[in-house]
Formats: sequence, C-alpha cells, structure tokens
Amino acid sequence: MSILSSAPAVALAAASAVPADVSASVRQDVHIELGDRAYAIAIGSDLLGQAATYEGLPTSSTALIVSNTTVAPLYGERLRLALAGRHRQVLLVELPDGEVHKNWTTLNSIFDTLLVHGADRKTVLYALGGGVVGDMTGFAAACYMRGVPFVQVPTTLLAQVDSSVGGKTGINHPLGKNMLGAFYQPQRVVCDLDVLQTLPPRELSAGLAEIIKYGPIADMAFFDWIEAHIDALVARDPAALGHAVRRSCEIKADVVGQDERESGLRAILNFGHTFGHAIEAGLGYGAWLHGEAVGCGMVMGAHLSQRLGLVDAPFVARLTRLVERAGLPVTAPKLGVERMVELMRLDKKSEAGEIKFVVIEEPGRAGVRTAPHALVVEVLRHCGAA
Ligand code: NAD
Ligand code: GLY
Repeated sequence: MSILSSAPAVALAAASAVPADVSASVRQDVHIELGDRAYAIAIGSDLLGQAATYEGLPTSSTALIVSNTTVAPLYGERLRLALAGRHRQVLLVELPDGEVHKNWTTLNSIFDTLLVHGADRKTVLYALGGGVVGDMTGFAAACYMRGVPFVQVPTTLLAQVDSSVGGKTGINHPLGKNMLGAFYQPQRVVCDLDVLQTLPPRELSAGLAEIIKYGPIADMAFFDWIEAHIDALVARDPAALGHAVRRSCEIKADVVGQDERESGLRAILNFGHTFGHAIEAGLGYGAWLHGEAVGCGMVMGAHLSQRLGLVDAPFVARLTRLVERAGLPVTAPKLGVERMVELMRLDKKSEAGEIKFVVIEEPGRAGVRTAPHALVVEVLRHCGAA
C-alpha cells in the first residue's frame, strides 16, 4: 500500500450554527477565490426570476439559455424575463433530458443555435438545469469562439452543491463518462432554493449524497448537523436546505480555490466515486443515479478506510445510517468482484492500471491511496457486490 497523497486538513471557515430561524429568502453569497476568475455563488429564495440577481454580469446583445425539455417549461420563461433588460435577444435551446444525451450530438445543437442566430464572442450562455445541462453548457461556452462567458443556474440539489461550482465541464464518450471536457469557470452561480421543491424525490436524495460527502472529507461538525437535520432536508425545509447548500458550497469553494485543476487536494471531492462510477457504468448509466452510486460508494469507501486501520466501525455505521436515512442505497448491486475491479481501473484517478481510492484518513480529513487487492475484494464482498 502506498500513500499517494495524504491531503492536509482543509483550512475552512468555521461552520455557522444551525440556522433554524434564518429565512432562506435572505440571499447569501459564497465567494470562490480564483484570482481574475473569482466569482460569487448566490444562494437564496426567489433569485432566478429577479433581474437584480444578474447585476454586474456581462451585458451583450445576445444571451442563450441552455436548458432541457423538463426544466425549460418550469423555469425558462422566468429566467428569460429576468434577463430581458440585459440583452437585446434572449434565446433558449431545449436539449433532450438525460445523461444519455450528454454527448457530441447534443453539444453540437448548442453550437448550431449560436451560429444560426449570429451569436458573437460576447454572447453569454446561461445553464438552466441539473449537472448534465451545466456540464454541457460550460463546455460549449469554453469552446464557442474559443470562450464566451457563462452563468450557472443549477436546478437540482446535486448541481447546487457540487457540479455547478468549480469549473469542471464536459461530455461523455461511449467509452467513458466525462472523458471530454475543459476546466472553465462560470461568471456566477445562482442557487435558487425554491426550484428544489419540484425535484423528484430520488433526485433530492442524490443531491443529499454529495452534501453528506463534505462531512467525512472536511468538516465533522457539518456531518453532525446533517445527522440532526436529515429529516428536515428530506422534507425540503427551506432553512435546512439553505444551510446545507451554503456550507457545501463553502467547502467546495475552499477546496477548488486551493487546487483548481486537481493536482492533489481536489481529488478528495471524489470520495465514494471510484466505487460509485463502477456501479454506474456496470449497471448502465441511468439505472442508478450518480448520487445514489456515490452514496453507496461512500459506504464502501468507509469500509475500505476501516480495513486500512484509519477509522473505526462506529464511524462506518454512522455514515451508513445517514446515507440510508437520506433515501440512498447502501448495498452494492451484484456486479461481481472481477467486473467491479475492471471498471474501477477505468477511473480517471487510476495510473498505469493502479486504482486509487479516496479514503477517510480520520473523520473530517481525506486522502488518496492505493489499497491491497485483497482488502478491496473484502470490501466488495462485504458490501454485496459479489
Ligand atoms: P440531471 O442534470 O440529469 O438532472 C436530474 C433530473 O432532474 C433531470 O431529469 C432533470 O431534467 C430534472 N430536473 C432538474 N431540475 C429540476 C427541477 N428543479 N424540477 C424538476 N426536475 C428537475 O442530473 P444531476 O444529478 O443534476 O447531474 C448529474 C450530472 O452532473 C452527471 O452528468 C455528472 O457527471 C455531473 N457532475 C458534474 C460535476 C462537476 O464537477 N462538473 C460534479 C458532479 C456531477
Ligand atoms: N465533483 C468533483 C469535483 O468537482 O472535483
């Protein structure tokens, strides 16, 4: 076993106290410090449809809202009206909905819309949707005329706490997920908590997986808070959601601010993802949602950490119980040990076929390690993959 990078504890702003009486309607900004690419993540209620939310962003003759066939009918017109005073024409393109459409063909349809309408290099793209729309819009913005500004308006919990923040953009290749893309930062992220009320329950749970993730990797006080408020989060209590989104964005902004291009520390954000990606790919994309696979993957990652002597059994039990209470699976699908190992070798963190895992070095601090094959097999068997 080798320690490839034992990430230092993330220096984080202290978590705020439980804001049970704080109205989610108060807009709170989290800042991501990236020099001339720094930006704000605006979090609050009733933001999406207010012109003031977009003040300070580039004005241009054309804006293009990129959304999909599910989200555009819900929120497209509200966003278009809010932007109408900033741009002479506000166009909207509706992509087909689903991970299966996160590909070149769909990306090209964004370029087609831009070119057909004579969009110039000052055109601003607005990503209105979940992580699929956000990742594709960001990649389109990075490519169109070698780069135009874009704004993330994430509408899933997962996108608000993870995918819209940090500038990872891209599409899938038939041979691998998110294999084509660019680091390209948005100009602003707008997290309107109200839109979470229309999310299907499974999608809400998928977002909770990424929220839970921030506890063991960076902030056990936040983990305690999530445990105490998991029922309120599942019930979509606005104040609880507001606090969870804000604290998650603070942690992600800190990590990305220290390691934008994932030369080390940023990899800790992939806790649960090596196991999770293998589950997603093994079952076929869409069978389990990304967040569901990450939830189960975190349980597996905790078991591996325990077998490496880093955390104790009560910690693993606590994490497992929380993942379960969030409505997420904690038992792996029976894909078989060999198949899971084969799929994990395809993970982007692998080097020369050697699988790397994000492990919990101690509750609240993560690192990246390889692990003896026998221990990995034990975990796969214990968690139901055999
Ligand atoms: P998604 O974008 O597919 O959205 C989930 C579903 O919810 C879709 O059917 C969507 O149309 C619908 N939806 C979205 N907002 C809604 C709303 N407010 N009301 C009702 N329905 C709504 O899935 P996701 O979980 O948001 O994102 C997953 C994607 O994010 C994956 O492609 C993953 O690779 C990517 N991702 C990227 C990063 C990153 O750092 N860039 C991080 C994590 C995940
Ligand atoms: N979601 C992992 C990252 O942004 O690095």
